[in-house]
Amino acid sequence: MVFKVGTVLGFKRKNKHFSMQKLLLKNIKTLVSVYDEAPKILAGTAMKKLPCITDAWLACDNGIIVDFGSMDDFPGIEDWKDLEVIDCSGKIVMPSFVDSHTHIVYAGNREQEFVDRINGLSYEEIANRGGGILNSAKKLRETSEDDLFEQSKNRLREIISQGTGAVEIKSGYGLDLQSELKMLRVIQRLKKLDWIPVKATFLGAHAIPPEFINNKAGYLDLIINEMLPAIKKEGLADYLDVFCERGYFDEFDTGRILEAGIKHGLKGRLHAEQLSHSNGIKTGIKYGALSVDHLEFCSDDDIKCLAGSHTIPTILPGAALFLGLPLPPARKMIDGGLAVALASDYNPGSCPSGNMKLMMSLACIQYKLLPEEAINACTINSAYALELQNEVGCICRGLKANMYITKSLSSYATLSYAFGTEAIDTLLLNGKVWK
Ligand code: NIG
Ligand code: FE
Repeated sequence: MVFKVGTVLGFKRKNKHFSMQKLLLKNIKTLVSVYDEAPKILAGTAMKKLPCITDAWLACDNGIIVDFGSMDDFPGIEDWKDLEVIDCSGKIVMPSFVDSHTHIVYAGNREQEFVDRINGLSYEEIANRGGGILNSAKKLRETSEDDLFEQSKNRLREIISQGTGAVEIKSGYGLDLQSELKMLRVIQRLKKLDWIPVKATFLGAHAIPPEFINNKAGYLDLIINEMLPAIKKEGLADYLDVFCERGYFDEFDTGRILEAGIKHGLKGRLHAEQLSHSNGIKTGIKYGALSVDHLEFCSDDDIKCLAGSHTIPTILPGAALFLGLPLPPARKMIDGGLAVALASDYNPGSCPSGNMKLMMSLACIQYKLLPEEAINACTINSAYALELQNEVGCICRGLKANMYITKSLSSYATLSYAFGTEAIDTLLLNGKVWK
């Protein structure tokens, strides 16, 4: 039998560079989330489905998944030139995680507040005395762009090593024009590394900065009339986010900002119903937000409204765990027919971890998602939440070859079951082994 990566899919080698990065995975115990055509977003009972091939092979060429199948039908190898072969006996191959909500560009950390919380202060009490987001804003303003880039690059490397193959990153610790631009420029520099796809979200409305403490209207004007146009001019953001929350930005502020974003071509995504029921979900839906995230105080009525919308509810179990918040009704959402996404919220104040395998474990253990639902929530559905469904999120011909080979595992359920354990053996990004 013969196998020629360049011809299996009818690719013609137009230039000598084309087939320099060929990779073949063979004897894969289970190839997970396999589709002949890119799937639609998975909603309700469809979230339980996880198509797999047992005893499989997969070929990548030039960073793209070009073919796969069962070892029984493996066509063999004709052209060994520049071909790297990895034997995956006993191992599972998974599409990389898509983390659709992070704040990994920040300066320093907030370990002191962690201790304050252990000693009994709440997240809101810490924020009210100038800590919290404002504490991070103070540190960020004092940090140079280069230093911020280096700190953030280390976090990007960290989450990649934990299996994340596409990520969204928010601004929101600058809270003045220059510092917000600095954060967004750092995100652009992370994009340009070309390690994994990165989407940038402008979150100027994350908190009211000290210089506007009694002048929220003035800060809203700054966001709408100065920050948004400057960001648009430099093309620094893909999306717009607002922390719609008691003591931060109410539903009317949120609506105004979302509306201004739409005028600048930025779709919304929101921090909604995290610490209280603040009508973020309904506001997000009204303005066509791509996602509403957190949802600890999501009501039955909100679930009904989400069911009639295209807005993707996203749970962030790391933050709910870290802050001891009530759990969002994720099970009810899925049972109500929604397409739920799962992300980390990696940030210094409410979730100092971007470990998506751990987020899946929390989703299963605490929220009663099935292992299949947890995997779908942080791959296909979170890819949709970033409009990256044609690039990443599953194993499909033509998608980017971002995936990981596990250690020897009994099944993909072990990823969630064995919480806190290391499961990745080899990471593949753009069809190449990531060192
Ligand atoms: O997603 N809730 C708002 N923003 C972050 C926390 C930010 C911080 O505390 O630094 C979150 O939980
Ligand atoms: Fe967040």
